[in-house]
Amino acid sequence: MCGIVGYVGKGDCVPYLVEGLQRLEYRGYDSAGVAVVKNGALRVHKAQGRVREMAAGLPKRMSGPVGIAHTRWATHGPPNDLNAHPQVDAEGRLAVVHNGILENADELRAELVADGVSLISDTDTEVLAHLIARSPEETLEERVRAALRRVVGAYGIAVCDAAAPDRLIVARNGSPVVIGIGDREMFVASDVAALVKHTQQVAYLDDGELATVTIEGFRTSTLDRRPTIKEPHAIAVAEQDYARGGFAHYLRKEIADQPQSVAGTLRGRLDHRFATARLDGLNMTPRELRAFRRVKILGCGSAYYAGIGGAQMIESFARLPADAEPASEFRYRDPIIDPETLYVATSQSGETADTLAAVHEIQAKGGRVIGLVNVVGSSIARGAEGGIYLHAGPEVSVASTKAVTSTLVGFALLALLLGRVRDAGPAAGERLIAALEKLPAQIDDILAREDAIAELAGRIAGSQTAFFIGRVRGHMVALEGAQKLKELSYVHAEAYPTPELKHGPLALITPDVPTVAIVPSDHLLDKNRSSLQQVKARGGPLVVVGHEHPGEGLADELLLVPRSEPELDPILLGIPLQLLAYHAALHLGRNVDQPRNLAKSVTVE
Ligand code: F6R
Repeated sequence: MCGIVGYVGKGDCVPYLVEGLQRLEYRGYDSAGVAVVKNGALRVHKAQGRVREMAAGLPKRMSGPVGIAHTRWATHGPPNDLNAHPQVDAEGRLAVVHNGILENADELRAELVADGVSLISDTDTEVLAHLIARSPEETLEERVRAALRRVVGAYGIAVCDAAAPDRLIVARNGSPVVIGIGDREMFVASDVAALVKHTQQVAYLDDGELATVTIEGFRTSTLDRRPTIKEPHAIAVAEQDYARGGFAHYLRKEIADQPQSVAGTLRGRLDHRFATARLDGLNMTPRELRAFRRVKILGCGSAYYAGIGGAQMIESFARLPADAEPASEFRYRDPIIDPETLYVATSQSGETADTLAAVHEIQAKGGRVIGLVNVVGSSIARGAEGGIYLHAGPEVSVASTKAVTSTLVGFALLALLLGRVRDAGPAAGERLIAALEKLPAQIDDILAREDAIAELAGRIAGSQTAFFIGRVRGHMVALEGAQKLKELSYVHAEAYPTPELKHGPLALITPDVPTVAIVPSDHLLDKNRSSLQQVKARGGPLVVVGHEHPGEGLADELLLVPRSEPELDPILLGIPLQLLAYHAALHLGRNVDQPRNLAKSVTVE
């Protein structure tokens, strides 16, 4: 959500800044801007709209050795030129780019106005720019520090100042900042995607840290001036991992990636000898794992839906009570934290503010929390005491696909391990391992049926609304299927547990309202058949996603997936629905990779 880039070095910062913004555009695409310091002067160029539109208007002579830039997802005020970042002080000599939200911005703004400062944007970031510029401290570092001590809220910031032309100051509280280490050039970004082309060595700021970055390197300290030591890390991804690879959209590429991304999640983790999963990153002994009495999964959006699927896998295979809750609700309901519960925070980006806050809430109350995260080195991955990396590769499209699938696979591995340290025997373990190993080929098989799904998508795209229904394991698939259709095609969709349809929503079923029913051939097949009858009796068109035809007259369209073990059914059943949403969006001419109003990695509340 919003992207920051910065550069200090021997070269010209502008090409790096623009290219970095393009790589971060999936994090926000309302407006973009660049600020450069050269020969003791600050120049700023910014504009509403996409990075390429802003870049097309960049003055030809705008160049320099120090600069910052931003791509914005609007939080304060509409997405217009004035609210675009960088924001500058009254003299136009100091510029700030900021991700996050300052909660006391209104109060600070009123104070500035009372002091005669006139602010021209609606943003909290402009308030910060004025606070820094007006601080009586001598150095830029101290002025930033003093200003940050006055603000409440979340931020990742980068600041440049014509009066300190050899440096950038960056700071973080709740919103990521990473420093890339080059050869007499230093890079700054909110996401490694922006700097992976230039360096593999990075240092991640922690909350409450501030860094001064010059051509020579960087030094970090806390807001109360305690120096800190940062060990550089090697980045786990390469530049080509961000390539679209001949596909028209990142989304389509990421759907196609799934045989490999699932194989990446499984790699090195299936232990045939002991019929279990090897999850060394958990940093927990079998004895510790055995001691847990419950599992509680926290995540947001599609990660939460995958958590529902994960909880069912754990209950079913490990016979350990488990449930999932939106992290955004959990964090504010003063939850009782149970020392005998294993908490799992799940997040593709590892940066979602609500999920990160849930981690902090659990830890503050003495609970134990692990992460199920895709982005290596992200805040949740570093904040949790251990975890399972998805190793699905970068997910660039705003809508999550391969990460959801890999999250389910990650939960299957956790279920396998928890089951084996408890009562599940080796035969049960082997059964799950064999099914997990088949997944990549089975996904390939589903992807090969794309043409039929694309045709069906054309018809769904013509509907005003659609229902998605599924029972127990199918319910999570329905939730995620409806989510994908809504966010990608903007066709309204609602998901229900199948039996709930008759308790209200059935009133909306007409020949114009399609229902997508998730109907695996499990012990609930007969129950599902009667629910399908109820839809058919109202003339509702029925699309069935399952393993076989549910019976005469019970499906107008059929999307078949290969059989797996029941615990793993949601993994395969979800894939045709990704393709369905993708093709519906294409049909309607939507911006597939960057749906309106959305951004990847929601680092604000
Ligand atoms: C939907 C989608 C979002 C994310 C949610 C959590 O396609 O992408 O619902 O799943 O914002 O994001 P992460 O997983 O990064 O915590």
